[in-house]
Amino acid sequence: MDAIAMSAPIIQNVTILGATGTIGLHTLDVIARHPDRFRAYALTANTNVDVLFEQCRKFEPVYAVMLDERAADSLKTKLQIAGLVTEVLFGMDALEFVSAHLDVHAVMAAIVGAAGLKPAIAAAESGKRILLANKETLVMSGSLFMQAVEKGGATLLPIDSEHNAIFQVMPQQKFATLKSGGIKKILITASGGPFRKATDDELSAVTVKQALNHPNWVMGPKITVDSATLMNKGLEVIEAHWLFNAAPEQIEVVVHPQSVIHSMVEYVDGSVLAQLGNPDMRTPIAYALGYPERIESGVSSLDLFKIARLDFEEPDTVRFPCLRLAFDALKKGGTAPAILNAANEIAVEAFLNGKIGFMGIPRIIESVLSDATISLASSLSTVIEADKLARKAAKEWMLTYSC
Ligand SMILES: NC(=O)c1ccc[n+]([C@@H]2O[C@H](COP(=O)([O-])OP(=O)(O)OC[C@H]3O[C@@H](n4cnc5c(N)ncnc54)[C@H](OP(=O)(O)O)[C@@H]3O)[C@@H](O)[C@H]2O)c1
Repeated sequence: MDAIAMSAPIIQNVTILGATGTIGLHTLDVIARHPDRFRAYALTANTNVDVLFEQCRKFEPVYAVMLDERAADSLKTKLQIAGLVTEVLFGMDALEFVSAHLDVHAVMAAIVGAAGLKPAIAAAESGKRILLANKETLVMSGSLFMQAVEKGGATLLPIDSEHNAIFQVMPQQKFATLKSGGIKKILITASGGPFRKATDDELSAVTVKQALNHPNWVMGPKITVDSATLMNKGLEVIEAHWLFNAAPEQIEVVVHPQSVIHSMVEYVDGSVLAQLGNPDMRTPIAYALGYPERIESGVSSLDLFKIARLDFEEPDTVRFPCLRLAFDALKKGGTAPAILNAANEIAVEAFLNGKIGFMGIPRIIESVLSDATISLASSLSTVIEADKLARKAAKEWMLTYSC
């Protein structure tokens, strides 16, 4: 092999699970900036044929996968008419197939909710570089997923801006124990959402439109509502527990309304290291795609003079019970976080569909959690069963009580 051939970069084949979502679009934006480094090998969606078709036209992936069979048929027809050769597959097996495919180097796990679990595990078991946006995977099955990562020899890189920030300021940049790294605690920042200063009455009257209007971040509807209830922060606390092997007492949530500091790590010597940047998900995505190198992301420079000040507050777990419920579920362990997550998904969906009020979300979760039988999360089937039962309980609760 000559010197030029040896130095030519290997193109990384990337599967994007949830390509049509907010994280998926940002990932494709970063990939498009580096055609010499990355190729969108497989793109997936649930039902959004139009957006996936446009993405196939632009990126010409080898595979396009839709969860929904009819949507896949429709995409296939459109691609044939356009003369494109992308192969269309459908269903959960196909999502797992493109996550574990031999030709794939990296998998962006950006499906929203519990639906992302199986493909993320498939990527872990087959030793991929996993760019994990789907926090629900770790919330539901943290122990099993981390075991699959280790057993499969996968490289796990967090995409959530907070965990990506923590990863960036951790020593040796690997998931060591906090103790060996001299770390005292992890400080996860939270914007506080759009209702940080709302009164109890205002919280009870929150509309869907208001809840979908996040002050700093542009995100999909489910995570935007989670940010407004602070459940997103609760899910992130559970995620941090598994990613960084941190006890609940070593994780602190700090409300920081400007969303400029993405999180911090406090060391035993009193040093606190933070990662800062504009609130734009392309930074953590580019970091994880290029790791250990830094690559251009398209994110503008942070203008500290314009920002001028950074504020910090303690979170209010009385007005925002979801954060407390997540800490409780983490401490209970076993299937409790999966139950919390499932009840939350049902409650958020009901809120988005106008069936319950904003404060009905924590009420449903609290009730489902307190009535549920919590068992050891010893297998994927146990976790999936707990998820199923919690969804059923949440739906039944809504039929019985008004909220
Ligand atoms: N957005 C952010 O800034 C952000 C930040 C940190 C972490 N995250 C996490 O990243 C994940 C994605 O968030 P997002 O904001 O990008 O969500 P989103 O905009 O709602 O996109 C969700 C994606 O998942 C697909 N999808 C939905 N249900 C599915 C199912 N049952 N089976 C297969 N695919 C399905 C959607 O396809 P269709 O378009 O066809 O519905 C879409 O491509 C979430 O776990 C979220 O917590 C997001």
